[in-house]
Amino acid sequence: MTKDAFTALRQGEMVLLYDFDDRERETDFAMRSDMITPRDICRMRNDAGGLICTAIPFQAAKKLGLPFAREVLRNCAMVEKLGDIPYDPSNNSSFSLWVNHRDTFTGITDRDRTKTVNALAEVVQAVMNGEPSSFKEHFRTPGHMPVLIAAEHLLSQRHGQTELSIAMAEMSGIIPSITICEMLDDDSGYALSKEDAIRYAKRHDLAFIEGSEVLDRWEKVAYPK
Ligand code: 5RP
Ligand code: ZN
Ligand code: CA
Repeated sequence: MTKDAFTALRQGEMVLLYDFDDRERETDFAMRSDMITPRDICRMRNDAGGLICTAIPFQAAKKLGLPFAREVLRNCAMVEKLGDIPYDPSNNSSFSLWVNHRDTFTGITDRDRTKTVNALAEVVQAVMNGEPSSFKEHFRTPGHMPVLIAAEHLLSQRHGQTELSIAMAEMSGIIPSITICEMLDDDSGYALSKEDAIRYAKRHDLAFIEGSEVLDRWEKVAYPK
């Protein structure tokens, strides 16, 4: 039986989240940030191999005072266009700052990244509950965990794994902070194909879900008939 990705995400399992055939055509490992352990970070870098990032909602980023990287860099970079990506109609990258928790050493080890990711979930939850931001007390930047900020209007604005994962978290009733990592193909030098990602999911008894399914479900919640 195929696993339900929403249940798996809620239960703290790794979920395989594919975007769209007309977008990146990439599958990301996705897991709730508050339940990430060093073993999960280790699995992400070994089995997925892409960039390990943590997605948070626009509203939380605003409360935490976290900007989009493109806004910060605009003033100091010697290029005209910033943060633009070719495969998303919004044409905007979701990258924010790269951070380390202040209690980490180098910031890159599985344990250090876990500390940073878990703490990101904590501060997101705190500001979403109306508490003041304690971002500066907890993190330093630059660091080794890229933060991704979802578009303000989520899937009605942008269709990346940043938005897909945050939409899934919100619909699952968990802290909206999800850590993701692209699955890459060691042999071809490209992203892992959807077919191979599905095979990996079956082999490891993990849930696989496509962006179209997340979008359908989200539209029913956001725009009920
Ligand atoms: C960061 C990325 C990944 O593609 C990640 O999935 C988030 O980006 P997006 O929301 O654009 O899909 O570029 O490694
Ligand atoms: Zn990408
Ligand atoms: Ca992506």
